[in-house]
This record gives sequence, C-alpha cells and structure tokens, in this order.
Amino acid sequence: MNYESQLSLQRLLPRLRQRFADASATDWADFEERLYRHFERLFLALLDLYGGRYDFFFHLEDILATAAESWLARPQALKLLDDEREQNPTWFQSQGMVGGVCYVDLFADNLAGIRQRIPYFQELGLTYLHLMPLFASPEAENDGGYAVSSYREVEARLGTMAELEDLTAELRGNGISLVIDFVFNHTSDEHEWAQRAIAGEREFEEMYFLFPDRTQPDAYDAHLREIFPDVRPGSFTYRADIDRWVWTTFNSFQWDLNYRNPAVFKRMATEMLFLANVGVEILRLDAVAFTWKELGTNCENLPLAHVLIQAFNALARIAAPALLFKSEAIVHPDEVAKYIDPEECQLSYNPLLMALLWEALATRNVRLLAHSLRERFRIDPACAWVNYVRCHDDIGWTFDDGDARRLDINGFDHRHFLNDFYTGRFQGSFARGLPFQENPATGDARISGACASLAGLEKALRQESDYEVELAVKRILLIHSVILSIGGIPLIYLGDEVGTTNDYSFRDDPAKAGDSRWLHRPRTDWARADQRHDVETVSGKVFQGLQRLMQIRQDCATFSGNEMTVINPDNEHVFAYLRQNEAGRVLIFTNFSEQPQHISGAVLRTYGLGYEFTDLISERAVVADEDVALAPYEVLWLAAR
Ligand code: GLC
Ligand code: GLC
Repeated sequence: MNYESQLSLQRLLPRLRQRFADASATDWADFEERLYRHFERLFLALLDLYGGRYDFFFHLEDILATAAESWLARPQALKLLDDEREQNPTWFQSQGMVGGVCYVDLFADNLAGIRQRIPYFQELGLTYLHLMPLFASPEAENDGGYAVSSYREVEARLGTMAELEDLTAELRGNGISLVIDFVFNHTSDEHEWAQRAIAGEREFEEMYFLFPDRTQPDAYDAHLREIFPDVRPGSFTYRADIDRWVWTTFNSFQWDLNYRNPAVFKRMATEMLFLANVGVEILRLDAVAFTWKELGTNCENLPLAHVLIQAFNALARIAAPALLFKSEAIVHPDEVAKYIDPEECQLSYNPLLMALLWEALATRNVRLLAHSLRERFRIDPACAWVNYVRCHDDIGWTFDDGDARRLDINGFDHRHFLNDFYTGRFQGSFARGLPFQENPATGDARISGACASLAGLEKALRQESDYEVELAVKRILLIHSVILSIGGIPLIYLGDEVGTTNDYSFRDDPAKAGDSRWLHRPRTDWARADQRHDVETVSGKVFQGLQRLMQIRQDCATFSGNEMTVINPDNEHVFAYLRQNEAGRVLIFTNFSEQPQHISGAVLRTYGLGYEFTDLISERAVVADEDVALAPYEVLWLAAR
C-alpha cells in the first residue's frame, strides 16, 4: 500500500470500528482483511474522481461505512460463494458456461413463471441467466425497464424482492448464476431522487444535470453524438414543470446522473451492494460509455468513466467479492477493449464479433471478420468475452474503418450496404429487418430484427420454399456455432433457440411504435417452443441443432478460456480459427456461403498437427492428405484423432 493510502486507512479504521461496534469479531476481521487488500485501489480511484474536494475524507468514510454495513448484512450463503469465487476467480471461463437472456414478462409473465422455467433453462444447458430490468419503472414508456424508478423494488406485476432473492438461490442451486442490469448512468424521472429534485430539494438537484437555459446544453451538444435522434435532437430535454433543461442521453424520461458529485457515487454504490446481497452474481453495467461528462468532449469513454468503474469494482472486492461486472459498451472496438480488465469489468459484450458475423453472412465473405478479429479478439486472460448474435438492442456496425480500409472497403459505404441488406432493400437480400434511429443528417442507421428474420427465415416461410427455409436454419446455426466455439461465454437471446421471427405488433402500441427495437422483443410463443422436440418443425431443427452444439462445447475442455488464433484457409468464404489449450486443439472451419467450398489439406496439416481428424459435429472422419469439402453453410469442428 502506498504511504498516503496507508495513512488514510489508519485514520479511518478506528472510526469505522466504533461505528460498527456491534459487529462480531470474525465478521469484522474478514472485512478488515479485505479492506487491507483492496483499499489502495479504492482510495486512489476515489482520489482521482473526488480528490479535489475539501470534503473528500467525509465522503470516503461514508463510502467505507456503506461497504461495512453491506458486508455485515451479507447472507452467509453468499459469503461462502465469495470464498469459492476468490479461490477460483476465472470460473466463468469454463466451457460449461452458456448464457441466456430474456425479459421476465415477455418470457414467463413474472418471476414465479421464470422459476417454473428452470427445467427449460437446464434442457438448454444454461449456467448464466440474464433477466432484463425487472425493477419498478414508469408505467407507460420505460425503455423496456431501462428507466429505473427504484433499485430496491421489483416491478409489482413481476413479483417482489423476496421472490427475486429466493429465485437467485434456487437458480444457484441449479448451477445457474443470475445476471441483472445495473442501470447506473441514469434513473427514471419517477425515481425518488428525481422526484425530490423536481420538488426543488437542492441535495437531489445536485444529483442530476439541470440547467436554467440552453447556454450549457448548447455548449455540450456541440460535441455530443445523438444516441436517439428519432426521439429528440441533442441530449437535453426541457421540463416545463421546473423550467429546466435536463441531461437525457437516451429518452427524455431517463435522467443522467452527475457522477462529479460523490454523493451520487455513494448512493449508487449502496444500490449496487444491495443487489449483490440479494444474490445477483453478475451485474451488467448499462451504458458504461456515457457516465462521465466533460465540456468540450463527446462525453463518451472518458478516462474518468473507467476510474468510476474501477472504484465500484474495488468496493465490490471488499464488500461482495463474488460480484462480477459485465460491460455494455457498444462503441468503437478500441474503446470496448478498454473496459475489459479484472479491476474494471471482467466480462464484456463482444459487439464487434456480433456485427461482423452479420456482415459476413450478408457478403458471404469473411475477410473483414477474420482481419478484425486477428488482433482484436485477444483480451486479458483473467477476463472473458460474452459473445452473442442478437440481443434486445439494435445492431450497430461498430467495426473499425481503418481495418476496413486495409481491405479496400469504404466504411461509410459498407455500413450503407449493410443497412440496405438487413432492411431487405438490397435486391436479393434474404433479411427482413427495420432501420433503427435512422439519422438523415448523418446517413447513420442501425438495424432492428429478430435473429431468424435477419437470417432469412421470415422471407423463406413466406415464400414457402423448403430450400430457403433450410438455408435460413443453417445460417442461424452457423452464427451460433461461432459464439459457442470462439472463446468466452456464449449468450443466447432466448426465443432465438426456437427460430422466433419478427413481431410487428409493436406498431399498434403507442408506447412502443416509435422504437423499432420492439420488433425483436416478442412475447415467447410457448406453443412454438413446445415443438422443439419435433425435428420436422423449424423450431425443432433450430433447437436441436443448437442443443447439440452446446453439448459438444460443454463436453470439450478445449473450448474453455479465450485463447483463439485466426488462421488463413486460403478461401474468403471460410472463417477458420484454432482453439488450443492444455486439453487439446480444435480446428474450426465455417463456410459463410451457400456454395460448397474447399480447404486444402495442407491447412489442416499445418495447424492441426496431424493427419486424421474427427468432425465433432457430424462425427465424420476427415483426412488431411486431400482437400476438405464444406457443404453450403457447413461448420466443421475438427479434433485430431
Ligand atoms: C442500454 C440498453 C438499452 C437502453 C440504454 C439506456 O444500451 O441496452 O436497451 O435503451 O442502455 O438505458
Ligand atoms: C447503447 C449504444 C447504442 C445502442 C443504444 C441502445 O448504449 O451506445 O449504440 O444502440 O445504447 O439502443
């Protein structure tokens, strides 16, 4: 520990001990031990954020008191989990990990319904379940729950906090870790803090960004990217009731919090530790890019946004060590990577892989995918990617323009093409999606649409073409095969496992009509899901295909960890990579085109270190002294015999 940290801790500890004089000696000893281990990190981060304030030590003590209080209240079962996780901090790298994500209401009505679906999760092999925001939120528009009115109350129609706590324990008993969102960049305007700000309480006004006129908003806006240009120009909303301009990066009812105020940090940290004590194992840090603002910058991914997460991370190590963070940074790949660190976010969405899987399906060419991942896939070995093909949000084409340029691809034109392709405007496109937040000023747009519809199933079913249906099913399985094998935690957007297509009914609901992301947020059709055992049905084909890939993954230790090498198979339609660790090697070839492809046997001999292989998927033998043939959209997972 550096001298300054040590001195501060020595000064604060006796005061804390006094404050928690009732704590048992063992509990306190445990707390102190962890505090000693992680204090320096917490202290230095907070010093970076708030060190300039005269009342810094007052806030520091307050934050430590929150940690102590929360640790003392932490249930025994979770303290055991803490020890277990500390002994095995990279437990999430196991090939056994498979994730699923859903909305509580759309998937199963409420928490009781989720509980009844545990056998379904097990049938799929899930070990990680992300339930999207389930907290109290405004009744009409609430951004699918991402406008939180209280972090301590479950939305009444979904259940209660006590039920959530029981659910976390029951899931854990069944080998499933619960993931929920930590929506910490903003609250809803109905949150008590916002309400008290509206009522004019100074302490709460200071938690947000409220401006008397357009002077400051204009100064900021000059450098900001518009996140929801369909909703309003710029990032500020005028509130007539208080005659103020409010910073709202997303919707007008989502008020950005002001983290320059240490009271905001302390209050959100208290909510975070509360959720950890309910038994949540992983928090998905929502909108991480936007939390720190500085005039004259675009207010995205600023250095102090990272320090802020590091401070939350250090606090978690002290008071809820089992808790992990997953970063939701859907930004440029260079910026995505910066959040990934054992001392920041141990897990991160992989938006680059997601976008490029769709890119390669559209172009039938893997150059950009292979080129981008060659350098960009590698992360800290103590962390993991969360690889996905779809989620509840839109698809943004977040590849690097420099990567594209090196392949003579113009980024701007290419995004334009991809948007045309996935909205079905491009002639011959198999996809059926909708534009999201099309910005005529910049020509930008993102894509909404369900996996199956984007992969061609919707169009194929309408055409009643068995051949096209077959191709669409293959595309769905193909992109999933990549997230299951490339390294990291695969995350299935539930509904995709049974080939769910777009739901256009959002157009009839005024609260949803303006947000095309509802296109791919349907209520689960259980009649359809119940056909999953019948391989004659489309749902059955997708489900059983996926289930098989998941089982192969879960049985093969070579799929653990993140170590992955992109290889060049001398064929622009085939994405090829090598997974290798102490457990062995698997060579993977994925044909992104609907034409048969060939790979020279020399590639197998070079990278596979052998002559005879078994394809883990088809169980057929492959010999390296001749060319290997791949059928349309075929995937080979080759293990040496
Ligand atoms: C995240 C969520 C998205 C939401 C936004 C604001 O990006 O995934 O659904 O609109 O944050 O909370
Ligand atoms: C996210 C992203 C943006 C995404 C949006 C939700 O934080 O920055 O690309 O589309 O919020 O839709």
